Amino acid sequence: MTVHADAEQIIGEFYSEFPYPWHATRLTAPDDPTLHPALLAQELGDFTHRRVPRDARIWVPGCGVNQALIVALRFPDAEVVGSDVSTDSLDLCRTAGDQLGARNLTLREEGITDAGYREEFDYVVCTGVIHHHPDPGLLLDRLATALKPSGVLELMVYNTYHRREITAFQGAMRLLGREQDLWFARRVAGTLTRDSELTRQLRADLGEPEEQFADSWLNPCERNFTVRTLHETARAAGLALEAPCASQLATGLDLYDWRVPCTDDQLRRRSEALDDVTRWQVTQALSVDRSPLLWFYLRRTDNPLPALCEADRDEAFLDAVLAPVTASERVWVMGRSGGYRPLDAPQPLVTGPPPAAPWLAGEADGTRPLRELFAARGGVPARDELRDLRIRLTTPSFPHLRAVTQGG
Ligand SMILES: C[S@@+](CC[C@H](N)C(=O)[O-])C[C@H]1O[C@@H](n2cnc3c(N)ncnc32)[C@H](O)[C@@H]1O
Repeated sequence: MTVHADAEQIIGEFYSEFPYPWHATRLTAPDDPTLHPALLAQELGDFTHRRVPRDARIWVPGCGVNQALIVALRFPDAEVVGSDVSTDSLDLCRTAGDQLGARNLTLREEGITDAGYREEFDYVVCTGVIHHHPDPGLLLDRLATALKPSGVLELMVYNTYHRREITAFQGAMRLLGREQDLWFARRVAGTLTRDSELTRQLRADLGEPEEQFADSWLNPCERNFTVRTLHETARAAGLALEAPCASQLATGLDLYDWRVPCTDDQLRRRSEALDDVTRWQVTQALSVDRSPLLWFYLRRTDNPLPALCEADRDEAFLDAVLAPVTASERVWVMGRSGGYRPLDAPQPLVTGPPPAAPWLAGEADGTRPLRELFAARGGVPARDELRDLRIRLTTPSFPHLRAVTQGG
């Protein structure tokens, strides 16, 4: 067995003992199959919605219990492959998929290193996975190879500045020869005597389900990243960081805002003049433990489509003719017995006014570009505010406005 197969076997056994995350309490499927491809394209600055086709081929490596099913429900016209090295996580995912009748999902038990796909996928979603391998760069290389040249990779890796306590605790358990002993770790967590941030975090997590405690504090392998090391690892695999992803987890934790956290005008001007990757490094360094999750879209460096920067995406937003999202969604909730139960009636996908610029919900009626709407209200907002509006109005986590296009 190679060292890589060995690493994948160890992590597979770990996540079979502690499948994580556990079943989602609520699953949803929009009634409009074009909605998620459109919102994904918008987050990448493509308000023409051509970046990811609705009948895309999608790969979700390291899908765990829910993610491949969530993606299959959001992209009902796509063909979705979910793969993992944890037999138990795949079984749980398969059972839920069968309950919901998801017909566009195939699940495979396979490690990323051996998957062997070549230029097959329009969209690859790999979050919380490659950092559990001793050589994340090797896995990234496999993901890049599996991606079509024009494809999109959604990737999340651990942020070094969020993992100080966890890295320290895992190191101590390793030195004690108990790195895989949940009950030992929990006993230690409950009896530490020093009043530190580590003690505080461990105590808080003692109340969480054991899968969650194990995922954080006992993981057999963990590699952490800064923006710089992620950028360098990506380049070595023929990939480039393209855009931040304001994922649901990141927005729920309020760890998604890549604007430089400072009101000083000089610093803001200087940082806006930097290239995106350098500016994200500044934001990470100045935000430390409150820096955003490292959740990014990446592209192959040989991608033939024009590469946009953040400022280009802001301009595309201003040029877009937007209208409110009116879709509804089917909803399933996890019942007490453990199975999913559908709600009788579809629910509106968006409830309530947008979290930013609520006036836009009334005025963005699909007839005039946003730039004109702002002009009528006294002018386009400053760059930072504009970027915040773009993200909090037009992306998958904030699905309020959608560009009106000829293709839909
Ligand atoms: C923390 S869970 C994340 C699950 C899912 N991506 C999500 O975000 O909900 C990590 C998952 O990746 C899987 N995994 C880790 N390394 C892998 C590898 N090299 N190949 C395939 N799956 C892997 C684990 O078995 C586990 O199910």
